[in-house]
Amino acid sequence: MFAINEIQPGRVKQLVNSAINSKLMHRLTYPHGPSRFVELFDRTAVIDETIGTISAIEHPTERSVRVSVRPNNRWNGFLAGQYVEFAMEIDGRRQRRMFSPAQSQHADGALEFTMAVNPDGVLTRHIKSSARVGDHVILGNVGGDFHLPETRPEHVVLISAGSGITPVLSMLRTLIDERYQGTVDFIHYCRSADDALYASELEACEHTLPGLRMHCIHTRAGGARFSAEQLEQMVPNYREAHTFVCGPSALLDATRTLFDEQGIGERLHQEAFGLATHATGEGESGGEIHFKRSDRTTDNNGETLLEQAEHAGLSPQHGCRMGVCFACSCTKTAGRVRDLRTGEVSGDGEEDIQICVSAPMGSVSLDI
Ligand SMILES: Cc1cc2nc3c(=O)[nH]c(=O)nc-3n(C[C@H](O)[C@H](O)[C@H](O)COP(=O)(O)OP(=O)(O)OC[C@H]3O[C@@H](n4cnc5c(N)ncnc54)[C@H](O)[C@@H]3O)c2cc1C
Ligand code: FES
Repeated sequence: MFAINEIQPGRVKQLVNSAINSKLMHRLTYPHGPSRFVELFDRTAVIDETIGTISAIEHPTERSVRVSVRPNNRWNGFLAGQYVEFAMEIDGRRQRRMFSPAQSQHADGALEFTMAVNPDGVLTRHIKSSARVGDHVILGNVGGDFHLPETRPEHVVLISAGSGITPVLSMLRTLIDERYQGTVDFIHYCRSADDALYASELEACEHTLPGLRMHCIHTRAGGARFSAEQLEQMVPNYREAHTFVCGPSALLDATRTLFDEQGIGERLHQEAFGLATHATGEGESGGEIHFKRSDRTTDNNGETLLEQAEHAGLSPQHGCRMGVCFACSCTKTAGRVRDLRTGEVSGDGEEDIQICVSAPMGSVSLDI
């Protein structure tokens, strides 16, 4: 016999998990499943979701918030530059968005998320004003092709603007942890010194990583926005490097045009935090949108079907609002829609669509 306090905590977890996974437990707790009951006692002990606990909240600038999140043991890590689905229960609804962790991919412990606060945004506004240490976060899929190649290039150029700094900072911190011997040019654009994220850390990094050259540009203090000439001046040999860019669509468009013109498009890697402006064109107004399940109809104004559903008073599931997470997928039962990312127009039959990136072309019927 042994006393309960002699059992190793890891063994206790194992015993609990095997009891939870047993067929009997699944029968007893049908239809919710055992993890929902475990959740009542310890939110982070759920077995089918990666749950994180907020361990710190900081306010680096007026328009941003930084949260540290300690994940439970289901967290499998990420590659520097990738995004994580981040969800919280707010007013009884699960709000799911994408954020790029800013810490090194080699760091243990808490994940670090730095968020630009959107005054109309549901999740970032909640975190800025109401989230508390100890609150829980549901961490979903980790993904994206925006990450450093496994064999690190000899020269890396990182370009970011505003909150777009998070994935490229993660790359820089990762390279520092790896004692990278190559060259890194880090160009960061922000409005002013008051708006600069991670300014003192980036300054200090120049001493930690001998090959790092920092270029910080304050666009409201006379600093020019991105141009080919500016890049040429700061990084004359950028054509041989691998360049990673994250920021607003104007920066993404300008770098894409330049690299394609130079015939080095494959050396440019980009991450967008929102729908590109050229992709936000509307559909065709006119006709009606019919939300079959809710038995509601609204005049079609050409906006995305997600926006039109929201204006009609419905609250369809959604996450990224830019076609990445598929949370908004639903069945279109009739009518044609335009995919705002590609401009492609669908057929008029029944099919699954992502309503955040679909604008109607006349009357459309949805199974919502
Ligand atoms: C791959 C990826 C990585 C990202 N990484 C980061 C990051 O590291 N840091 C960062 O700051 N951002 C990041 N983002 C961007 C971030 O996910 C979005 O900006 C997200 O929308 C922020 O949520 P929010 O709560 O601020 O705004 P949301 O609530 O999503 O609102 C966005 C807009 O939609 C409108 N809206 C929302 N709900 C409704 C409604 N019910 N009815 C009508 N309109 C509505 C709002 O008015 C607002 O203008 C990333 C995005 C992607 C795709
Ligand atoms: S909300 Fe993410 S794909 Fe539509």
